[in-house]
Amino acid sequence: MIASNQNTEFARGLEGVVAAETRIGFVDGINGRLVYRGYNIEELAESSTFEEVTYLLLYGKLPNKSDLANFKNKLNADNHFDDKLFRVLQDCTKGSHPMSALRTGVSYLGGLDKNSNKSDLASQESMGLKLMGKFPSLVAAINRAYSGHEMIKSNEPDYTVRFLEESFGKKPSEFEVKVFRTALILHADHGMNASTFASMVAISTLSDMYSAVTAAISSLKGPLHGGANEQALELLERIGSAKNADKIVGEMLEKKEKIMGFGHRVYKVYDPRAKILKGYAKDLAKHTGKSELFETAEEVEKVMISKLGTKGIFPNVDFYSGIVYKSLGFDPKLFTPIFALSRISGWFARSLEYLHDNRLFRPRSMYKGEVGPIKYVPLEDRK
Ligand code: ACO
Repeated sequence: MIASNQNTEFARGLEGVVAAETRIGFVDGINGRLVYRGYNIEELAESSTFEEVTYLLLYGKLPNKSDLANFKNKLNADNHFDDKLFRVLQDCTKGSHPMSALRTGVSYLGGLDKNSNKSDLASQESMGLKLMGKFPSLVAAINRAYSGHEMIKSNEPDYTVRFLEESFGKKPSEFEVKVFRTALILHADHGMNASTFASMVAISTLSDMYSAVTAAISSLKGPLHGGANEQALELLERIGSAKNADKIVGEMLEKKEKIMGFGHRVYKVYDPRAKILKGYAKDLAKHTGKSELFETAEEVEKVMISKLGTKGIFPNVDFYSGIVYKSLGFDPKLFTPIFALSRISGWFARSLEYLHDNRLFRPRSMYKGEVGPIKYVPLEDRK
């Protein structure tokens, strides 16, 4: 017999379910707009720094000069970690994906913070700031460990510049900073996506900010979410040239395979972030003189839109971000940790916002099994 006392509505994957209110960001999937606290993403990407955008997400307004200086001081007050953690990161990057190292690194830092058993708002905020301050060095150290190099420590106070310096051991050019900073801003927040939701579920139990970020990293790792850009680039490299796009993409679609970097649960039009990143991918192709990858991507986009555009399938942010990161010199295995380097501001802001009016997340599942009662048979009598 099937359970009959469940007259609730069932939404697979919680699709369409509204489970929280927010003032932080709005994804307009019909009109292809992304808004942080009322500001269009295009304008923020063009004119802001990542720290200004993080401040905006956290506190609801753009900082003035003194707000920004104070905020950066807080982020940089305790922004490094010791070599012991680097050795752990080296061990974690030997056989597994760098996202596993990031998950372990955040959890390790939480274990070292004596305040991480506190759940009041001020402690959560201070944990979040401390963790964010360490994030550029943490992700850069994972990059160094993964590529077999020692860690580099820089005193640079800017989030973007410090990350690039500690990743590559040299001063980045203004153009590199501009492109990378834009990518960070574009990925900072995006509604109640899987990783943000995971962080909010963890914080709703009155757990701590390190745990919330660890939960978020765990769900960002998957190829249906943050892992898509790595796989999108792998596909482009496999396609190899624009002239192969039609055949290979066509064959994949016939086999019902997903083309990574296309489609979105909310956007049914062109993802506004993808538009901006496409422009930078094109600029970088010119800048580096290596245009084949970009040309292949443009052709894949054309094929996909001609075949699936009517179903609302267009490039998402992950389609062009991989080309941008690769052109800047990053190994594809670092793409998802770079996503986390940015999205931590959304996880942090939304977890903190949720705590102001906290309610434990506790959905239900539709029981489809036997309700019995089936007679229990002792182990020795079971056939
Ligand atoms: N490649 C091929 N076909 C696709 C793709 C794709 N990338 N995305 C959707 N479709 C197909 C679906 O199979 C479905 O086909 P059907 O009508 O024959 O059943 C149709 O298009 C409509 O799909 P949706 O219902 O709109 O897609 P859904 O909301 O279920 O999935 C998702 C969204 C998971 C993102 C999906 O598009 C996908 O798997 N994309 C590839 C992974 C990816 O790029 N993820 C990154 C998302 S952005 C981010 O997390 C940062």
